Amino acid sequence: MAQATKGRAPGRAGRKPHRHLPGTWHCLSKSVAETDRLGRRIGRALQGGEIVALYGELGSGKTALVRGMAAGLGAPPEAVSSPTFVFIHEYHGRMRLAHADLYRLQSYTELPHIGLSDYDDGRTVTAIEWAEKAGHDLPADRLEIHLQHRSPGIREITFVPRGARARRLLARLRAGQLSSRRTAGQRRRTR
Ligand SMILES: Nc1ncnc2c1ncn2[C@@H]1O[C@H](COP(=O)(O)OP(=O)(O)OP(=O)(O)O)[C@@H](O)[C@H]1O
Ligand SMILES: [Mg+2]
Repeated sequence: MAQATKGRAPGRAGRKPHRHLPGTWHCLSKSVAETDRLGRRIGRALQGGEIVALYGELGSGKTALVRGMAAGLGAPPEAVSSPTFVFIHEYHGRMRLAHADLYRLQSYTELPHIGLSDYDDGRTVTAIEWAEKAGHDLPADRLEIHLQHRSPGIREITFVPRGARARRLLARLRAGQLSSRRTAGQRRRTR
């Protein structure tokens, strides 16, 4: 679906640029269902106004994670798809979720024109696929989520909190993870 319309085959990521950043958290997802469960946890941990910036090559699971987030917020997950021909979709659960995909952004200078700032109301959660296309113009306080192919079906997912709100979100997410026996096996490392 999204892979076909975006036109490049996914490759394997090699570098781990975030490995040593303080406060980062890594986990492995062994299936799309696990990624969905992780997304649901994120959705439940959201309190409103957070920015979630998603990085990762085509087919790495960014939309799958957002689908889980929508479900965790109580919005219908089946409505979630990569906003390939428009830049932003929105979904409504216990909070509004704005879902942007910047893949087709030609330059970060277009960013002010796609309407992302319309969602900057302190309550709407914003999830941004291909966040790297925004250059340095993303809000400073954001939770970065980097997804990397490790082998077919396996994704390494790295969380990098940038700012106080993002750190609080990640703390809630990790607390939820630690209290769950079902997903305890997903944890590989804690910093
Ligand atoms: N562990 C996994 N987590 C997430 N998706 C997985 C996993 N294993 C396999 N997949 C498959 O990888 C694909 C991920 O697609 P998805 O649309 O979520 O990627 P994306 O990162 O949003 O791509 P795009 O950059 O094109 O928007 C799906 O076909 C899904 O079934
Ligand atoms: Mg996508």
